[in-house]
Amino acid sequence: MTFKHDVVIVGSGLAGLRAALVAGESADVAIISKVLPTRAHSGAAQGGIAAALGNEEPDSPEWHWFDTVKGGDYLTDQDLAQILAEDAPRAIYELEHLGVPFNRRPDGKIAQRAFGGHTSEFGKAAVKRACHAADRTGRVILDTLYGQALGRGLKIYEEFQVLDLITNKGQVSGLVAYELATGELHLFECRAVMLATGGFGQVFATTSNCFGNTGEAVYAAHRAGAPLQDMEFIQFHPTGIHGLGVLITEAARGEGGILRNQSGERFMERYAPTIKDLAARDVVSRAIYNEIKEGRGIDGSDYVHLDLTHLGAAKLAEKLQDISSFCKVYLGLDPADRPIPVKPTCHYAMGGLPTGPEGQVLDVELSPIGGLYAAGECACLSVHGANRLGCNSLLDLVVFGRRAGHKILQDLDHLGFAGLPNDPQEGVQARVEAVLGGGSEKSAELRTRLKQVMMDKCGIYRTGAGLSEALNEVRELKERNRHTGVSHQGKVFNQSLIEALELDGLMGLAETMVLGALNRTESRGAHSREDYPDRDDDNWLKHTLVTQEADGPQVGYRPVNLMRFEPKPRVY
Ligand code: FUM
Repeated sequence: MTFKHDVVIVGSGLAGLRAALVAGESADVAIISKVLPTRAHSGAAQGGIAAALGNEEPDSPEWHWFDTVKGGDYLTDQDLAQILAEDAPRAIYELEHLGVPFNRRPDGKIAQRAFGGHTSEFGKAAVKRACHAADRTGRVILDTLYGQALGRGLKIYEEFQVLDLITNKGQVSGLVAYELATGELHLFECRAVMLATGGFGQVFATTSNCFGNTGEAVYAAHRAGAPLQDMEFIQFHPTGIHGLGVLITEAARGEGGILRNQSGERFMERYAPTIKDLAARDVVSRAIYNEIKEGRGIDGSDYVHLDLTHLGAAKLAEKLQDISSFCKVYLGLDPADRPIPVKPTCHYAMGGLPTGPEGQVLDVELSPIGGLYAAGECACLSVHGANRLGCNSLLDLVVFGRRAGHKILQDLDHLGFAGLPNDPQEGVQARVEAVLGGGSEKSAELRTRLKQVMMDKCGIYRTGAGLSEALNEVRELKERNRHTGVSHQGKVFNQSLIEALELDGLMGLAETMVLGALNRTESRGAHSREDYPDRDDDNWLKHTLVTQEADGPQVGYRPVNLMRFEPKPRVY
């Protein structure tokens, strides 16, 4: 079928919903979601959403701005981080008025707690800045915005997977989507497309990302001409459940939890004497990795302990319900009685489609690509620089999702329907048939191998030699993937076919990550090169831009917008 709407938003998480609520005020807006909308990965965000409300102790948007820039190891575009920090209090009250049930203080104000890298007075001490709803903050915001979208009658195409972007007359003019329940390919014709598809953490073997975070729509935009920016910066969250990668929120440390090694030592005191367990995530993840490498993992194994036992059962029940339940379900342990085995898990992509402050996706000359917008984790503003601070992600989604919605409405004044070319689904159709036709390679095997290569050679620590090997292996896997096939031919929720199609995007995205990481001969934020351990502002204070040319991906660079805060060594 062919569907026609003014605006199609891909992704039903917070960025997509927030944009849709704005654009839907006066345009015909549809949302496409590969999952049931309430399963969007925003719902997995646990600990909070940052805003300098100052409800618990003195705070200011200026300190929040500084922390965001410092946390990003100065790769952050400072003009955008300023928007984020300054718009945060308004965004929180707006969510409150829409119905988000934030935790309250006894005086009725929104409660706030400490989170990694958020400080007062430009780094002096940890500050309580994270607004939250127990440890299911993303869940309650998602449910609230989804309720608003339903209330306003927005059209949602559920369990449709976008596999290609269509361009015509120099403008993005539509999409090709696969309907999971029927196996049919559909066309969407529109005047504007917004991508809000989240991250692509499924590139890595251990990840807190849901199974749907595979990035095929982002890769489709890349194929259609959009560059990818700063893809080498992948955040590992310090506390994934050992062996599973499931997130244990940083709020556990914000509420007083302590990381301990084999001898029970609070080792973060050595790595970040001022804010200890609440240092930025890249710092804490590397510290855990070092403890393990130097033999101080628990029982000599590859994990450390997150100790919450001193917080008491009442506090865990009030503030950390979800993670307490995860521990009981997945590990059979009660964190009130026993420490949690944790290890870093791939959590967040700082890189993605380069966008302007209003969500327009930019080309390599930094001019907007007609009709294409993005917000949230799939976009790279770059507001998070080389390393995102916890609780700045939910904030990014609602602040920049809303801005994109407004910009789309404005641009509809001049964006018409550019129309669809002949047979726009031809490429996707051929790929689906080829995969269903069977092939010499097994998609599931290639996927497992890709994830392990990325984990081993493009993870928390990297070396030039390891990255060169990774690049060769990813390219070899990409070649083999051309001959991939699946045996199940069914049309209804053919998961093996879906996963095979997703793998095309995962492979392409992995290649850009490794390329960026190999070229960047310095360590900055989440990109840690053992062979280049220092940050090198003289040569590398710049954003990476990967483009697809006829002979493969090419790497270029663009400057960082340094506006106010001079780069300094990051000390916590
Ligand atoms: O630890 C957490 O609750 C994660 C929050 C975030 O990534 O912003």
